[in-house]
Amino acid sequence: MSLFDDLISAAWEVRERAYAPYSHFSVGAALLGEDGVIYRGCNVENLSYGLTVCAERHAVAQAVAAGCRRFQALAVAADTKAPVAPCGACRQVLSEFGDLPILLATRHHRAETSLGALLPMAFRGTLEQL
Ligand code: THU
Repeated sequence: MSLFDDLISAAWEVRERAYAPYSHFSVGAALLGEDGVIYRGCNVENLSYGLTVCAERHAVAQAVAAGCRRFQALAVAADTKAPVAPCGACRQVLSEFGDLPILLATRHHRAETSLGALLPMAFRGTLEQL
């Protein structure tokens, strides 16, 4: 078992806890911190649909709240035919913390990409001045 296998397993595990009564579409995300800890997130929907939190942003918040801001990789798991890539909002949130490899898992396929590939020319704004 590689570290990436563990990361994908963690994404599947946390997906089981998704709260998705409106879309019935469960997503799990697992973020490997620089500290070697795996931070997990699932999607949490809301009756006011726009308040829904995606699995990826949930995982980022879990990591940041635990004091981790540097990441080695992200895994996303969804039970779809084609791999599910993070939405635009999550790409922007992830880009705050730098580039990283992204593993996309379905029951039968795995794909590997990176945040830089998914969000080229990301808005850096005031970060450029830091
Ligand atoms: N969703 C995620 O959690 N991550 C993604 O990468 C795409 C979409 C969630 C949001 C919503 O709860 C459900 O999937 C349907 O869009």
